[in-house]
Amino acid sequence: MKNKINYVDICCGLNWGDEAKGKIVSYLSKIGDYNFVCRWSGGNNAGHTIYKNGIKYKTHLIPSGIFYDIPSIIGPDCVVNVNAFFEEVNYLKSNGFNTNLIFISPKAHVVTKDHITEDKDKLFKTQGTTAKGIAPCYKDKYARKGLLAKNIPEFKDYLWDEKLYGNILCEGAQGFWLDINYGNYPYVTSSNTLPYGACSLGFPPQYIRHIYGATKIYDTRSGIDPFFPENLLEDKDLLLLVKVGEEFGTTTGRMRKTNWLNLDKLVDAVKISGTTMMLMSKVDVVKKINIYKLYHNASLINFENFDVMKTYIDKILKEKCPLLENITYSEKNELD
Ligand code: IMP
Ligand code: MG
Repeated sequence: MKNKINYVDICCGLNWGDEAKGKIVSYLSKIGDYNFVCRWSGGNNAGHTIYKNGIKYKTHLIPSGIFYDIPSIIGPDCVVNVNAFFEEVNYLKSNGFNTNLIFISPKAHVVTKDHITEDKDKLFKTQGTTAKGIAPCYKDKYARKGLLAKNIPEFKDYLWDEKLYGNILCEGAQGFWLDINYGNYPYVTSSNTLPYGACSLGFPPQYIRHIYGATKIYDTRSGIDPFFPENLLEDKDLLLLVKVGEEFGTTTGRMRKTNWLNLDKLVDAVKISGTTMMLMSKVDVVKKINIYKLYHNASLINFENFDVMKTYIDKILKEKCPLLENITYSEKNELD
């Protein structure tokens, strides 16, 4: 059976990252029957927060399958910073996780010091990147002069044999509107964040079973994006969302710009990603501040309570997204 793929599930972000993908992937890793959990894009610009047995863990690069003893693969379209990788390996090891299950594709590209310097000096200032060298690394990859993981002696014991079999879970990074093709270019990341990118891991698309779309009941954006003007940080209700929702970046610590859910954008993201199972988290946050608003057809709608808002969201999504089978609304700690 070691050469046969059974099915592939994919978890992707439907917004601008920070939609609790880590929480979904760790939940699926716990309850599912996966042979591999794989990251397909990005590098340590991502930040995944995972709770296991009440303890909070943060990772940036290594797939969340590692928390459940599942072989965890960093795919060929990812970029890897050697120091950040070993820092994370040591962090996981010191917390008792089996780091022998971590594998890097020999074809993954390596983020160098020069990439980080270039990002810090230029893009961080103009685009609010995470300054981890991501864009310069992909730039070298596409100019066909990059450094591959297989050429790094320190990675020798971690190189993946590029075999996939059984049940596979793919863990997305960033989100739909940060995708290089779909986002508000150039205010995007340099990778393919949609499920189409997951096929870079080396499975035929016909094996895809479920696409889990992660979203939140309100929108957040870390980094510069004219779609999220800075004056959003002056709106007192939106600031309440930041505070109650603890909207500070896992990777950068920056305050995230927050806005009411844009249902028009969510519909597009669900449709184009092919999401079959949607998980909308942080419902407890809007309940706590007791304000229920969303944008639809470009106008802001105010709802009396959560149930009315939920009925509205369900109706629009069901009408517009024929592939969507299930919508789950979740509150804090529900899947931990
Ligand atoms: P880069 O990926 O560091 O080049 O950053 C490009 C844009 O994507 C910036 O606006 C970042 O703030 C954003 N970004 C990158 N990774 C994440 C993430 O994991 N969560 C949220 N935003 C991200
Ligand atoms: Mg994150």
